[in-house]
Amino acid sequence: MIKIAPSILSANLLDLKNEVLKVDQAGVEYIHIDVMDGHYVPNITFGSNIVRELRPITNKILDVHLMISPVISFIEEFVNAGANIISFHPEADPDPNKVINQIQKSNCKPGIAIHPNVKIDEVTKYLHLVDIVIVMTVVPGFGGQQFMENQINKISILSEIKKNKGLKFEIEIDGGINKENATMCIEKGADILVAGSYIFGSLNNNYKELIESLRQMN
Ligand code: DX5
Ligand code: ZN
Repeated sequence: MIKIAPSILSANLLDLKNEVLKVDQAGVEYIHIDVMDGHYVPNITFGSNIVRELRPITNKILDVHLMISPVISFIEEFVNAGANIISFHPEADPDPNKVINQIQKSNCKPGIAIHPNVKIDEVTKYLHLVDIVIVMTVVPGFGGQQFMENQINKISILSEIKKNKGLKFEIEIDGGINKENATMCIEKGADILVAGSYIFGSLNNNYKELIESLRQMN
């Protein structure tokens, strides 16, 4: 069954604890935490302190997406704060293998995130090392953007590679997800859907209904 990862970037930050408790109770599997440093992307969001504050209030998987550069010097603090998954953009660090090792040896799951401008063949060398591969379907930096249809073929290619090589990584789709494009992503092989504005930005604040609409349970 598809897993849902609400992105807290679009949550009401003045009521973040309750927002996370609400999606937790609505049955999501992951909480997606977008970390931006104003260097790799033209925006600044949260640091590891948010992970530390959220850790005790939920048992869900804390799925940290680092949009920072360089990466290596921040891994330990996110691991110590309680992250379960740490994904990063390989082009944002001089030694991606070292970053992956650093995450792995701290009992955390490593992931890589593929920028829309990055081709699959630029990251195939990491696929056997990671647990998560994020296909970015928006240009990283902001929530509420339009889904980029021209990224969809990456899902099928990754799904093919995973099957042919017997690899374990989960395919996570990140950016502009809604109930219209969720089906297509699932059919192409997505395992996890990140959704920020579709859940937290909706006028309908029945989070369970919104989350289930992504699972195509109805
Ligand atoms: C963008 C982030 C995404 C974004 C998703 O840089 O990585 O996780 O917050 O938000 P929506 O679902 O609104 O595109
Ligand atoms: Zn993200």
